[in-house]
Amino acid sequence: METPIYILGIESSCDDTSASVICNAQILSNVVANQEVHAKYGGVVPELASRAHQQNIVPVVQQALAQANIGKEQLAAIAFTKGPGLMGSLLVGTSFAKSLALGLNIPLLDVNHMQAHILAHFIKSDDNKMPPFPFICLTISGGHTQIVKVTNYFEMEVLGETIDDAVGEAFDKSAKIIGLPYPGGPLIDKYAQLGNPKAYPFTKPKVGDLDFSFSGLKTGILYFIQKQQRINPNFIKENLNDICASIQFTIVEILMDKLKNAVKKTNIKHIAIAGGVSANSEIRKRLQLAEKHLGWTTYIPKFEYTTDNAAMIAISGYLKYLNKDYSDVSVTAKARLKVTE
Ligand code: KG4
Ligand code: ZN
Repeated sequence: METPIYILGIESSCDDTSASVICNAQILSNVVANQEVHAKYGGVVPELASRAHQQNIVPVVQQALAQANIGKEQLAAIAFTKGPGLMGSLLVGTSFAKSLALGLNIPLLDVNHMQAHILAHFIKSDDNKMPPFPFICLTISGGHTQIVKVTNYFEMEVLGETIDDAVGEAFDKSAKIIGLPYPGGPLIDKYAQLGNPKAYPFTKPKVGDLDFSFSGLKTGILYFIQKQQRINPNFIKENLNDICASIQFTIVEILMDKLKNAVKKTNIKHIAIAGGVSANSEIRKRLQLAEKHLGWTTYIPKFEYTTDNAAMIAISGYLKYLNKDYSDVSVTAKARLKVTE
């Protein structure tokens, strides 16, 4: 039997405090504390996020250890998110991870949040298939939209990315226009289930083959809604499902177009998605169809590993641990960090 290597992962880059225990690529616990405090402000308030992380981090880590049924003295290493993210939020996880690693006298592993979203595909479970190298990963979150060629665990190349808003922002800002609370992405997904995706055609942006742009779409949606409301003040209420379905359809069409371009350019047909927006039901459905119609093999993460979570930090830490790629205690959080760094 394999010797068990237990690693604690800590994620605190934005507004979720999370801790996870992994044992040799298998997740034993993945505790996420969402910060409700931001909803009333319509977006994440950085100062409030840091404070909430400080409140949550100790109980979240304790819960992760308890659920995994291990004591902290059994840990082989501590992995944490170094960046990218909100500086005040990152500092909480970084300082906590350092102190704990020093106190337990075990290695510290710094993890790139963007790489971690992708590496979540290497979490072992009974029912998941792992992508073979090289594969293409569409990373879609609240802060990033990238097409990445993944040649090895820590060898990645950005083939294209957004020149303005991230796709999660496109969902959240569109949701705000139609009066839905933050984060609106999951709500658009929910209402879209009952709507007609072809009800309102929105214009797709024109940018480079593998790049994205969402700010024009957002403006297009705003003008369309304002115009319709002048004609019928109840337009949103009466047509919410169709509006949501049309917005979601347009965004997913854009994503699929770009993935097709990436396949054409690289001839790689192993396609993964990662990040918060990969929870979206329409992109999941369209990828499953692409298996049938385009001959792709697609890799869709488990729902709990899509939005920010520490399990993805734990698996990345485990892969680094196997390479003995430990961090120095002088390591610092980085608000800006490329997926290739
Ligand atoms: O990866 P993530 O949790 O945080 C960042 O690193 O940004 O992504 C959060 C984003 C938010 O914009 C949220 O609205 C979006 O993911 N999201 C969704 C869905 N679930 C989460 N967007 C569309 N459909 C969903 N089902
Ligand atoms: Zn993220």
